[in-house]
Amino acid sequence: PLVSMKEMLETANKQRYAVGQFNINNLEYVQAILQAAEEEKSPVILGVSEGAGKYMGGFNVVVAMVKATMEAQGTTVPVAIHLDHGSSFEVCAKAIHAGFTSVMIDASHDPFEENIAVTSKVVELAHFHGVSVEAELGTVGGNEDGVQGGIMYADTNECKELVERTGVDCLAPALGSVHGPYQGEPNLGFKEMEEINTVAGVPLVLHGGTGIPVADIQKAISFGTSKINVNTENQIQQTKVVREVLEANPEMIDPRKYLGPSRDAIKDTVIGKMREFGSSNKA
Ligand code: G3H
Ligand code: ZN
Repeated sequence: PLVSMKEMLETANKQRYAVGQFNINNLEYVQAILQAAEEEKSPVILGVSEGAGKYMGGFNVVVAMVKATMEAQGTTVPVAIHLDHGSSFEVCAKAIHAGFTSVMIDASHDPFEENIAVTSKVVELAHFHGVSVEAELGTVGGNEDGVQGGIMYADTNECKELVERTGVDCLAPALGSVHGPYQGEPNLGFKEMEEINTVAGVPLVLHGGTGIPVADIQKAISFGTSKINVNTENQIQQTKVVREVLEANPEMIDPRKYLGPSRDAIKDTVIGKMREFGSSNKA
């Protein structure tokens, strides 16, 4: 069924595993990720960035496509459709009214009080509709859909205050993670994560899940991280297969013949992550 992230993440937090957010770009992503979740008996979060939402034809198309695919594939595991890095109250409201079950309001680039103000507004509307809310503090490194940032750690006291004053369901404190591939080994602020986990009182979210070693994933989970976002890894694996197939078959023009195998690559990647995150057999 389609559900918000609230219960999903609270359960994951208590049982010390993380639910994966896998970003979608088109139908093949939806099919692959839902199939992976069903086979692994894992809860799953479908992440939709504003750019990807536009690419797919808007939030209404996204919701219709996900619902129809769940029905066609006989999906029984809990699924959330989540707006990734929502940039304004208006975009979050659009997603909520289109039927998203969860939204992220990312006002991390705004001054703290402004972040609190817009996040509170989103929470009020979202909770009225039974939709969960994720907020962010600090700056995730790298680039996502044109959103650039240097790394800046979230402040522990601000994390505590933001959760208390806004009522968000989960919090993404930036602690050294990066969108896209890492230059060298990731260097995550686990000391800060532990501190934030003690004071925040909600499940934590780790952005930039691509390229984080398993040991760090496990550490993050032990410090209250209950949601891990993965996007780039699926894109790398999918595109690799498309390239291989097209290079081996320069005459090929049937999109099903290169998108089909690349869809399997997404599914395999997602299954691997679900096992790493410990969410398999938790649905
Ligand atoms: O919000 C999405 C994630 O943070 C994706 O990060 O592309 O590095 O896996 P990634
Ligand atoms: Zn992110």
